[in-house]
Amino acid sequence: TRVGILISGRGSNMEALIRAAARDDFPATIALVLSNRADAAGLDIARQHGIAAHAIPSRDFRNDREGHEARLHQELIAANCSLVCLAGYMRLLTPAFVQSWAGRMLNIHPSLLPSFPGLDTHAKALAAGSRIHGCTVHLVTEIMDEGPILAQAAVPVLPGDTESELGARVLAQEHIIYPMALRHYLGQPAIPADASNALVSPCA
Ligand code: GRF
Repeated sequence: TRVGILISGRGSNMEALIRAAARDDFPATIALVLSNRADAAGLDIARQHGIAAHAIPSRDFRNDREGHEARLHQELIAANCSLVCLAGYMRLLTPAFVQSWAGRMLNIHPSLLPSFPGLDTHAKALAAGSRIHGCTVHLVTEIMDEGPILAQAAVPVLPGDTESELGARVLAQEHIIYPMALRHYLGQPAIPADASNALVSPCA
């Protein structure tokens, strides 16, 4: 399966997917990385791994969301991608784009959905007094941070945690479950020994 990854920034989840997919036994190839921001650090990281990567800046399409996404779609199709992974892609997608990739687009979100959709999830978990927090890989539907859950990993919230300490603990799990969920979604067993606190949905 050829996979296109959409990013907006740092690209650490993208890199986790690239590293996992570089293994012989992984059922997907990362064919293309696209960013909606020209300054996304992840673009260089992708290129260092030999992956085609470039920006289609959303600022060039200011009042033309459809036009921007039509370009994304074209490039994904031209690269023969049949699956899309959102990895820190910070723009809401139009219903038309979501529909054209229905069942073929995954996202990673830094909370245990359905708790804390949207931004600032770690601050929200701390403010809520959550004792357990985590991350979720899910299929993308038209509603932001909804859609069938494919995998989740939980981490403890420790006394005195700052937002960044908690975020780092969650991020380490994101890097484990995203490749794991993708692999499982593509029909291969997906429970590595180092992710004993992560679960994939049996129905996935
Ligand atoms: C991650 O926390 C991801 O869950 C969220 O945005 C962040 C992206 O980080 N959707 P990175 O670009 O993958 O490093």
